[in-house]
Amino acid sequence: MKIEGKEYRTIWFDEKNQTVKIIDQTKLPHHFIIKDIKTAKEAINAIKTMEVRGAPLIGATAAYGLVLSIIEKNDLSYLKKSSEDLIASRPTAINLKWAVDRMMKRLSGLNSDEILKVALEEAKDIVEEDVGFCKNIGLNGLKIIEEIFVKKKDTVNILTHCNAGWLATIDWGTATSPIYHAHKAGIKVHVWVDETRPRNQGANLTSYELNEEGIPNTIIADNTGGILMQRGKVDMCIVGTDRTLSNGDVCNKIGTYLKALAAKDNNVPFYVALPSSTIDWQIKDHKKIPIEERDSEELSHVEGLDKDNKLQKVLIYPQKSKAMNLAFDVTPAKYVTSLITEKGICEASEQGLKKLFKENLL
Ligand code: MRU
Repeated sequence: MKIEGKEYRTIWFDEKNQTVKIIDQTKLPHHFIIKDIKTAKEAINAIKTMEVRGAPLIGATAAYGLVLSIIEKNDLSYLKKSSEDLIASRPTAINLKWAVDRMMKRLSGLNSDEILKVALEEAKDIVEEDVGFCKNIGLNGLKIIEEIFVKKKDTVNILTHCNAGWLATIDWGTATSPIYHAHKAGIKVHVWVDETRPRNQGANLTSYELNEEGIPNTIIADNTGGILMQRGKVDMCIVGTDRTLSNGDVCNKIGTYLKALAAKDNNVPFYVALPSSTIDWQIKDHKKIPIEERDSEELSHVEGLDKDNKLQKVLIYPQKSKAMNLAFDVTPAKYVTSLITEKGICEASEQGLKKLFKENLL
């Protein structure tokens, strides 16, 4: 997708320097900085500090992190340690483990002469596959937006939470891909962008990337969606997910659940867009999903541009107050209208997923 009219992806391998290039998302929207990741440790740090974020993108970063680990030291025990540290770097989004497991399976049994070449091929395959998946999610989700547009004959208002845009993937995004496809098809869309406290991925990233693609959008405080739905200002919600269980329960950015409850109360359809790499086929009970608890400083401090155009972080809470910062919640399947996947649209249930992905069900 585009930034200032130029096409970018969120991550790519620099063949000449044998490094991985990323867009440092901690500096967006104020500064667009491309950063070199040179070692597995730097890849782990980029994931932890959220220079890269979003379930599919952290999976791709982990895959390239293993490539970098082999470039640094072509040694199996070092590769194994890198794989464990990568998986541990962010626990909730399943794509991270999915990508590392896929890479390690592909690399097992290879000798040191061929391992780097194969690792790089596999990491690139993961990236290309995600681009294809996100594109298909968009084409499938486009049908839903088209249907609303045909009935309404006016702008389709879509609410989204967090950033499940192209910045969270490699290209297109998950939740945003149907929106980008609708826009390209000439359908009038407007996006209500939840700010998404505490890290403001909605305001800082979703609104930013929609602006760059020329898609009308309005940032709202996280608690505003309810009244907008009561007053008929939201035609549909689309969110992404960090881990969806085979029973259709959806783990996503904190606050998604409350938005789904409001949608249900107001008969607003609530869609979840996801590639199959985000499905956890093992865990059956959402209480077993590891929910990341992040530093409370993300709540107590905010960062923005000061009057000299410098990024500054300031404390906004009482000095003595404690804060607790859970990063994700779970929306039970019964509140999800449908899942939009690369293979089609299905009910958020085991039967629904089975129809599309029967080979994965245990
Ligand atoms: O903590 P983040 O910014 O990595 O959380 C991202 C989200 O919750 C996204 O909605 C989710 O990963 C889907 S991304 C296509």
